[in-house]
Amino acid sequence: LSPPRDRLRIAIQKSGRLAEPARALLASCGLSWRESRDRLFCYGETLAVDLLLVRDDDIPGLIAEGVCDLGIVGRNVLLEQAHDRERGGRPPAFREWRALGFGGCRLALAVPEDWAWEGPAQLRGKRIATSYPALLAAWLRERAVEAEVVVLSGSVEIAPRLGQADAVCDLVSTGSTLAANQLKPVATLLESEAVLAGPVQPLEDARGELADLLLRRLEGALRIRR
Ligand code: PRP
Ligand code: ZN
Ligand code: MG
Repeated sequence: LSPPRDRLRIAIQKSGRLAEPARALLASCGLSWRESRDRLFCYGETLAVDLLLVRDDDIPGLIAEGVCDLGIVGRNVLLEQAHDRERGGRPPAFREWRALGFGGCRLALAVPEDWAWEGPAQLRGKRIATSYPALLAAWLRERAVEAEVVVLSGSVEIAPRLGQADAVCDLVSTGSTLAANQLKPVATLLESEAVLAGPVQPLEDARGELADLLLRRLEGALRIRR
């Protein structure tokens, strides 16, 4: 399962917000692939850089296990899983290599619109639904607020209406999902965007050289965009 040493393997989101911009950014670095985008694996043609199309949540684990060398993933996903590893006493196995300037959003705490927000202490004893339990727990701990964290993998914003939670902690991009569920953001836990993620230590052998080349091309591509 581990990648050949002479080819670089990058995991990107198969479908979703980051999928197209991630591919487009890599293409603007001069990469091209021999595969249609509904397939799971894309074989690099112009450079020995292959793509693996996966669920974004799986990307940090794929890097940790060495199945992929690099990944393009939201900082929110990367930090959540890093905190989770830390809580479980596991050593760091991936880190942010470079911010990529797209997919901007924030991880926010949101409460029902009719709450008069007075601050984090108001959450004491409340139930908060989230897909980011480790980041939320760390934020609550720093503020010495004891609340119940309800872990949901999706449709978090509907939890208060269903009576599953009193508040939510989820990603906000345009804010329309919160508004549609009569919720308002009251605190920002994290500013996020797509990042290039990789192992803690630099890559070695031919993959290290390919990664250096890719990083140089990324610098150029991102400079032109700004
Ligand atoms: C994210 C997030 C919110 C929504 C917010 O979900 O979980 O539900 O976007 O966006 P908005 O502020 O523009 O309404 P997304 O569909 O990106 O991914 P997910 O399925 O992995 O949660
Ligand atoms: Zn996801
Ligand atoms: Mg969502």
